[in-house]
Amino acid sequence: KEKFFRQNILKNKKALVTAGPTYEPLDPVRFVGNHSSGKMGFALAEDLYEKGADVTVVSGPVYQQTKYKGIKVINVNTAEEMYNTCLQLHDEMDIEIMAAAVADYKPAAVAPEKIKKTNNSLQLELAKTNDILATLGARKKHQFLVGFALETNNEKQHALDKLEKKNADMIVLNSLKDANAGFGFDTNKVSVFSANGDNVEMELASKKEIANKIVDLVIKKIHA
Ligand code: CTP
Ligand code: CA
Repeated sequence: KEKFFRQNILKNKKALVTAGPTYEPLDPVRFVGNHSSGKMGFALAEDLYEKGADVTVVSGPVYQQTKYKGIKVINVNTAEEMYNTCLQLHDEMDIEIMAAAVADYKPAAVAPEKIKKTNNSLQLELAKTNDILATLGARKKHQFLVGFALETNNEKQHALDKLEKKNADMIVLNSLKDANAGFGFDTNKVSVFSANGDNVEMELASKKEIANKIVDLVIKKIHA
């Protein structure tokens, strides 16, 4: 029944989407995380699926679910688990969209027991995580690789820097300037930068509509 509604544009293409936050454990009962809802990632996965792609989502902890049984969802918790899973899937993928809000740092050590309340202050030591997008970029062969960027200043320059440094084909810049865009909202405002210099500004729209436009742009680039 599902197949009936699917298009053929991305038939036989394999797509990987990362979604949601990552949770970095501190002790057995605590973690360092962020407010990513996974909505943008799941909207992209569903749009890719509707256009015929074979879709795998590697998702951090989210309340999101997909209505499509044909989309494979691999649940992970930490940046390291997400990194290992994505690297394993990389070779067979044709399209990779990194929409997850991966933690940049994780607690340097996980306490084996619950950290007790003692002193008036507590210092946490954090260690850098691996950059999934940059690693896939460095190992890119035939894949079309899309990253996201979240900036609060010098947005365009930072987005272009990420495009180049991570060897991505496209960077979707999330605009925080609109009050209804970003974490947790059903709408988003983005601007897309491509490796060939193209810049497409999109209007504030539902994440579903934004996903549709991003995927259409990816299809256009792949066919170009
Ligand atoms: N990303 C990733 N692995 C990480 C960190 C980020 O794959 N460990 C990906 C995100 O999924 C996103 C892109 O890199 O597609 C950019 O994420 P962002 O947080 O905007 O940029 P960073 O490179 O992490 O730099 P900073 O947070 O300092 O701006
Ligand atoms: Ca980051």
